[in-house]
Amino acid sequence: MKILVVGGGGREHAVIKKLKENPKAEKIFALPGNGGIAADAECAGIKATDIPGIVNFAKENGIDYAVVTPDDPLVLGCVDALEAEGIPCFGPRANAAIIEGSKIFSKRLMQKYGIPTAACEVFEEMEPALEYLKTAPLPAVVKADGLALGKGVIIAETREEAEEAVRGMMQDLKFGKSGSRILIEEFLEGPEVSVLAFTDGKAMKPMVSSMDHKRAGDGDTGLNTGGMGTIAPNPYYTEEVAARCMQEIFLPTMAAMNAEGRTFRGCLYFGLMITEKGPKVIEYNCRFGDPETQVVLPLLKSDLLEIMLAVTEERLSEVPVEFEDGAACCVIMASEGYPVAYGKGYPITIPADLLEKVYVAGAAVKDGALVTSGGRVLGVTETAESLPEAIEKAYADVARIHFDNEYYRKDIGQRGLAAVTK
Ligand code: AMP
Ligand code: GLY
Repeated sequence: MKILVVGGGGREHAVIKKLKENPKAEKIFALPGNGGIAADAECAGIKATDIPGIVNFAKENGIDYAVVTPDDPLVLGCVDALEAEGIPCFGPRANAAIIEGSKIFSKRLMQKYGIPTAACEVFEEMEPALEYLKTAPLPAVVKADGLALGKGVIIAETREEAEEAVRGMMQDLKFGKSGSRILIEEFLEGPEVSVLAFTDGKAMKPMVSSMDHKRAGDGDTGLNTGGMGTIAPNPYYTEEVAARCMQEIFLPTMAAMNAEGRTFRGCLYFGLMITEKGPKVIEYNCRFGDPETQVVLPLLKSDLLEIMLAVTEERLSEVPVEFEDGAACCVIMASEGYPVAYGKGYPITIPADLLEKVYVAGAAVKDGALVTSGGRVLGVTETAESLPEAIEKAYADVARIHFDNEYYRKDIGQRGLAAVTK
């Protein structure tokens, strides 16, 4: 089987490595992939948002199955376009990807179907938004409606900050058209949990839970990033919480999408806040999380390709989705300065015995050597029987990998450990 994976980050590297465990995956292509992914798949320089380019590539290369993982091609209808050419895909069609593509859509869905989430007001004009802020509870969470590379959320502690956020989005269009409509949301408190789930619209099979570390600095300080590290499982996600999430959130979301004529087939990501009043949805993503995937898939015992095919063919209920009992930790090695400004082109040295633990996010091949090409460069994942061991092993690996200007958080997993020892 010839498989095409659309995307080119650490998440896609993790997906590709897992797909390769099935001998049916005789050849894997990645668009655009990256210099590290090139060791595991044939990469071609077609952007993940170039839908006509992707479709042409798939036809020319006789692709049998496509896996679309990033948000923008999904929202742009990459799956619809490939399916129109008779190529089966893993990933939601555009009419279901909207669950991530529009925060206003997903908020209205949750309100209509009684799925627990933060209280919220929607604004299409700036003046009413500014008026509302005069008396809104603080902190206020201001969100751009559309995709904004994970940056369209501002938690404003003061009225001035909230006003600035609204003006930035609606007047200065800092996030482009994504911010022409906004939401102002109630601030939720509690530990955050990410749960990825396979669903074909009939069955819902959650994967092992995980915890992202979004801020750039130790102790959750500094700017928001695409994610500086992850652990799985998330110690705050107890069996009791999991059972509530299934009944109050996961199954109702699947049913709601079906009822709207927007059946979701693929990986649905639930960003959850475990509040005092129970679990609530902070956001949906229409895809695997990055870097959650880099800890979830290494713990997957079942065959990823078989699961994906079953999702596409709507027979997910028939295939096992099982995880190891242990834990995983992924530490992201970035270039100093990320997420703002950082240098590129630094040569990377990875000892050969660690290659299988490394998921490459931002690297290119130059003169035959791997060099950094992005802010987030590598994810280093270790699994072990317990979380403390997984953390220790991951950091031991990180200490053996080098590139100039490297930066990583030293405390990935510590917040999770605190929950265990409480
Ligand atoms: P999102 O892009 O919606 O996931 O938001 C990014 C981050 O902002 C989340 O991971 C949360 O840490 C935080 N956040 C979003 N919405 C809320 C909320 N209503 N209350 C508290 N924190 C939030
Ligand atoms: N790690 C959060 C995301 O993938 O959006």
